[in-house]
Amino acid sequence: MKNVALITGAAGGIGKEFAKIHASRGGDVVAIDLNAEGLKDLQRELSESHPRSTVYTIPKNLASNSATQEIYEEVTREGIAVDYLINNAGFGGVGKFHERAWEQDQAMIQVNVLALASLTRFFLPDFIARGTGKILNVSSTVRLNPGPMQAIYIASKAFVTSFTNSLSGELLGTGVTATVLLPGATQTGFGAHSGMDKTDIYKKPASAGDVARDGYQAMLAGKLQMISGLPWSQRMTLSLTPLLPKEMVVNRIRKQQEINH
Ligand SMILES: NC(=O)c1ccc[n+]([C@@H]2O[C@H](COP(=O)([O-])OP(=O)(O)OC[C@H]3O[C@@H](n4cnc5c(N)ncnc54)[C@H](OP(=O)(O)O)[C@@H]3O)[C@@H](O)[C@H]2O)c1
Repeated sequence: MKNVALITGAAGGIGKEFAKIHASRGGDVVAIDLNAEGLKDLQRELSESHPRSTVYTIPKNLASNSATQEIYEEVTREGIAVDYLINNAGFGGVGKFHERAWEQDQAMIQVNVLALASLTRFFLPDFIARGTGKILNVSSTVRLNPGPMQAIYIASKAFVTSFTNSLSGELLGTGVTATVLLPGATQTGFGAHSGMDKTDIYKKPASAGDVARDGYQAMLAGKLQMISGLPWSQRMTLSLTPLLPKEMVVNRIRKQQEINH
């Protein structure tokens, strides 16, 4: 395999769009997802639309402790050199922290935070040794504010952004870059899975293809971060928010994120 992008959460949503974009540029894909059927569909679709591109699939639950090590070992055993690591898999959930099932929030931390950091830790030394490689981590614009009703999800995305920004500083001069993508509300399975599709911020979601294209291009350019799929009015609000009293912000966001019945 050549010009390889390893993409987590590649069976649907933004991850699938990353896979399509990379294949359309003649690259090969290592596609990882919980959804084994979705991976087969992706492989079938890409072999028809981009026959020169190879798709190697690894069905894996990233909420399992051993998943990332198993992925790294399989990729190494197969002799696949990864050029682009796209940590995209993630999920959310709405509700008061103390009322939500702890098992779900624990799995959210495992997938959104630990699997992302761990895959980066496995692949980064190889990138640095080769003096080339690009990392793209998917965060969210929600992490720019505190997030009542999504406490763990938003904290997990704050981690992703802070971690990736810090990493990019450490990587200066190595030939390797780390970019973070911050999507606004985007039309994927995410809204329905998390319950967020019933909240005000999902009234006009962006297209997954547009968001993935923005992130992919930012990764190629080695940019620090890319905000995508956010209307200008919301961008303005986001940049002004740090100047407002925290109590006001917390109350406003809680109202925005309460589910509309
Ligand atoms: N959509 C939005 O509005 C939005 C906004 C900001 C940030 N994001 C972020 O964008 C990223 C991609 O989300 P998306 O919107 O494309 O959502 P999506 O349509 O639900 O796609 C996520 C993919 O990740 C997979 N996945 C979930 N849990 C997994 C696990 N434990 N192990 C392996 N794969 C798993 C899902 O598989 P299953 O289908 O089997 O669950 C799915 O194929 C996430 O990190 C999300 O937090 C999304």
